[in-house]
Amino acid sequence: MLSTSSGSVRSGVRNEHLEIRAAVEAMEAAIGRLSDREPSAERTDQIVRGLQGLARQLGEHFAREEAPKGILAMALGEAPRLDRRVLAVKRQHVSLGVQLRQVIADAGYAGTAPDAWRGVTGSFHDFAEALRDHERGEDQILADAYLDDLGSGD
Ligand SMILES: [Fe+2]
Ligand SMILES: [Fe+2]
Repeated sequence: MLSTSSGSVRSGVRNEHLEIRAAVEAMEAAIGRLSDREPSAERTDQIVRGLQGLARQLGEHFAREEAPKGILAMALGEAPRLDRRVLAVKRQHVSLGVQLRQVIADAGYAGTAPDAWRGVTGSFHDFAEALRDHERGEDQILADAYLDDLGSGD
């Protein structure tokens, strides 16, 4: 039986995933434009601040997912057999954080050189793909956890 609180936590996560997806796509487009021609220092500073904001947003999102009453604990409560997949997505939170901090460091060093921004565009794209895979895996864990619940009839 789905409790109201699991329903609201699940829809909260869904909304956060949509917001993060939109923020990442906007950032991919903005970074990509910097490699076309030499950007201004103001523009590159703005992008670095945007990346730092994204890192904060993601850190908070990951922490909410991992909280004692967060979505991952709830999914595990519903379907303990998903423990390895839950552990895998928690590990990805760490590696995604490391990957994004590296992109931010590279962006900080890129200055106004379009070539350097082409490198940042590539590494941010790799990060974005890894994050999208991660969120898909998480959505699948939730779908599996709560389908099991409906199927078991308890
Ligand atoms: Fe996550
Ligand atoms: Fe997530």
